[in-house]
Amino acid sequence: MSHSAPQPPILSIRDLHVSIHGRTDARPILKGLSVDIPRGSTVALLGESGSGKTLAAYAVLNVLPRVARLDSGQILFNGADLRTMPPAGLNRVRGNRIGMVYQEPSTSLNPLLRVGDQISETLTTHKGLSHRNAREQVISLMELVGIPDARRRYSQLPHQFSGGVKQRLVIAMALACHPELLLADEPTSALDSTVQAQILDLLSRLITDLRMSVFLISHDLGVIAALADRVAVLLDGMVVEDGAVRDVLEEPAHPYTRALLSGKPRPSGTAVEESLPASSPGCPFLRNCPHRLPVCSRAMPDPFIPKEGRMVRCFLFGEPPGDAHE
Ligand SMILES: Nc1ncnc2c1ncn2[C@@H]1O[C@H](COP(=O)(O)OP(=O)(O)OP(=O)(O)O)[C@@H](O)[C@H]1O
Ligand SMILES: [Mg+2]
Repeated sequence: MSHSAPQPPILSIRDLHVSIHGRTDARPILKGLSVDIPRGSTVALLGESGSGKTLAAYAVLNVLPRVARLDSGQILFNGADLRTMPPAGLNRVRGNRIGMVYQEPSTSLNPLLRVGDQISETLTTHKGLSHRNAREQVISLMELVGIPDARRRYSQLPHQFSGGVKQRLVIAMALACHPELLLADEPTSALDSTVQAQILDLLSRLITDLRMSVFLISHDLGVIAALADRVAVLLDGMVVEDGAVRDVLEEPAHPYTRALLSGKPRPSGTAVEESLPASSPGCPFLRNCPHRLPVCSRAMPDPFIPKEGRMVRCFLFGEPPGDAHE
């Protein structure tokens, strides 16, 4: 094999626009989101509550709620656009080559069915395994995610498991078909802190052992620091900064990232959507930014690359615009 041809990212979200449609209006949520997940790496999307992180994951899986519309953009999986893939091909990708861990275990688990059978079903559906073979694989999966006494617990119902063990089951379900890519949407935020640490340990071990590629969605810096290689910071539907996790956490460039890291992204009481009039062309962080320049209210700068693997969109960096210091 030639060494010169670079592998495409396993997932590349390009210029994604998603809006929420009310009865009379449309509210843009994602406004040109671009993120790459290189094969074998864990990339986190960091954003505040309501910033559109879950919608981004749903767009990848083509399971957006009815009120949401994907207006434009590309979602390339191994270089092929999922948006133009025929439904049969898409069904083979979803749940099979891309696994999803939802924030709420209850989203994935049917309360009326034995947990083992629920995981087993993904294997019989996507991999064509016999029920008996699927059952044996499910038991090994349950052991892999650290559920003791798996053979007996296979037949139990979801309510017989604690929150932490339910999340282990959800992870087992997401991994059942050996997906190439795992989407993990706030995988620990529904759990109390001791259990959170256990699930983080589990995910961290699985990511290493299975050499997984992961799109991690989180508002939690601790989770991101524990699991991710890279982080992209979402502000008002766009990525305003990205880079290696350590670089970004140690030397945040964008004033919004700095505010997020200090725990004060905006004055208390200001909701995300109140931060700027919808149609303003300027930087969405303008009002709360201690470093704003006159130009910041008129335009959003293009991405600037201060060094390889790092990007920031802020007029404080890169070539100053002609009138930046007027
Ligand atoms: N089904 C829906 N109906 C109406 N509005 C929705 C729906 N889903 C999402 N939204 C709106 O879209 C925006 C983004 O939602 P999303 O769930 O993607 O945010 P998020 O970043 O995942 O937040 P959180 O961190 O709280 O999970 C929010 O303002 C939300 O109100
Ligand atoms: Mg969410």
